[in-house]
Amino acid sequence: MDGIWLSPHFDSPNADNGYDIRDYRKVMAEFGTMAAFDEMLKGIKQRHMKLLLDLVVNHTSDEHAWFVESRKAKDNPYRDYYIWRAGRDGNPPNNWSSFFSGSAWKQDPATGEYYLHLFAEKQPDLNWDNPKVRNEVYDLMKFWLDKGVDGFRMDVIPFISKDPAFPDYPKEYEGRVQYFYAAGPKVHDYIREMNREVLSQYDVMTVGEAFGVSLEQTPLLVDERRNELNMIFNFDAIRLGRQSWRLNPWTLPELKAVYTKLDQKLDAHNWGTVFLSNHDNPRVVSRFGDDSPQYRVASAKALATMLLTLKGTPFIYQGDELAMTNYPFTKIEDFNDIEVKNAWKAEVLTHQVTAEDYIASLRKTSRDNSRTPMQWDDSANGGFTTAPKAWLAVNPNSNEINAKQAVADPDSVYHYFQKLIALRKKTPALVYGDYKDLDPQHPSVFAYTRTLGALRYLVVLNLSSQAVTYLVPAGQKVGSVILSNLPGKESATSVLRLRPWDARVYRF
Ligand code: NOJ
Repeated sequence: MDGIWLSPHFDSPNADNGYDIRDYRKVMAEFGTMAAFDEMLKGIKQRHMKLLLDLVVNHTSDEHAWFVESRKAKDNPYRDYYIWRAGRDGNPPNNWSSFFSGSAWKQDPATGEYYLHLFAEKQPDLNWDNPKVRNEVYDLMKFWLDKGVDGFRMDVIPFISKDPAFPDYPKEYEGRVQYFYAAGPKVHDYIREMNREVLSQYDVMTVGEAFGVSLEQTPLLVDERRNELNMIFNFDAIRLGRQSWRLNPWTLPELKAVYTKLDQKLDAHNWGTVFLSNHDNPRVVSRFGDDSPQYRVASAKALATMLLTLKGTPFIYQGDELAMTNYPFTKIEDFNDIEVKNAWKAEVLTHQVTAEDYIASLRKTSRDNSRTPMQWDDSANGGFTTAPKAWLAVNPNSNEINAKQAVADPDSVYHYFQKLIALRKKTPALVYGDYKDLDPQHPSVFAYTRTLGALRYLVVLNLSSQAVTYLVPAGQKVGSVILSNLPGKESATSVLRLRPWDARVYRF
């Protein structure tokens, strides 16, 4: 690996798995001490890797000292660090909804005014229109950069600017409010200011979580001539078929179209990311592959091939290198996630949906699927803890799927990732080469070329559990196989007999 993005490791009461920060300059006690952090950073540098921290500055915890002060009185010096408004006829100031169910406003007893929280009640939104807030953020960024960290993944960064008139969002944003929240009037001014004041002073990298940013808006954030961010995470692929906690049917041509459209938007001045999972989404093999015992390994390898050969910087989520799977949730008590618990109260307890329907969907979509403890070995709790119980249940398949097994097995997904990474590093065309989808309408095969000058590679992926005979378009013949996930190879032909989840990289 070249770098590590660490999820929030700051002091937090953990209402939202650390995305509710109480003190930006302190390490969460459960994780260790600042001395342990410093030692980790040193170890990462010794291994010639980079460390990205999670910058969570759209909101803080309600236990942060600024908010503790802010809520005390209307004339408190910290009042304006957050967003306070009077109610509207005994109701919240507008119709804005929280991503974690209900209104995005909470009335506070001390003054009777409402504060804004786009996420949980315990995550009040900071008021970025206050220059003092922006300077506080720049200072805390410098605190970590001066320690030598190499950049930031920026949590919901497009939401930092709010329309000061706080209008109701129009009806057409119902169910997709992220597009409304990401269109605040000053978002680019503030990111450019952050770049000028902080980022440009250091040799660092940034990647913005751009939930709600359309393809059209993407270059505004990442075009290098604008001095905002280096890259963003575009969610069109990972959210395909998603409607809140439901997963609707989707097709491979739709997925392929996402990458083609993105490629068309990003010219030479823009650079993208590729990711198929993260801590907010289910496990990649369960979501896009086939996690049955028969195809788990093959499909995880096929998806890994896609991740490492598409155009953009690849991000691998921890545990996916072992093809860890979703968790077999059966009841609401199995979950830790506040998003799940709040939606249970708002939708199941009010009889809008049945418990069975909700839990069955969550088995496919819940964020907790990818938050279960890392599976290190076949001992109790997957070797994650020696305590009787981990903070979240360990997947019962940890006795078979674990790092110890993966390291010992030369055919494991883990070793296949190593081969892919090595191949990508020695093959500039797989990093910088032009991308072209050869067969956008094929229902189960993703076939694309990466071309750099005279060097051309063809990636052929059968992203299904059925065998398929694939005719390379226009009768073109594939060259030699550079890498494949299944034994047996065909070369110098235009007819490929692909087994379920076959993945091949050819010279072309
Ligand atoms: C996005 C983070 O990735 C997610 O885990 C969190 O719940 C929200 N932002 C709020 O910080």
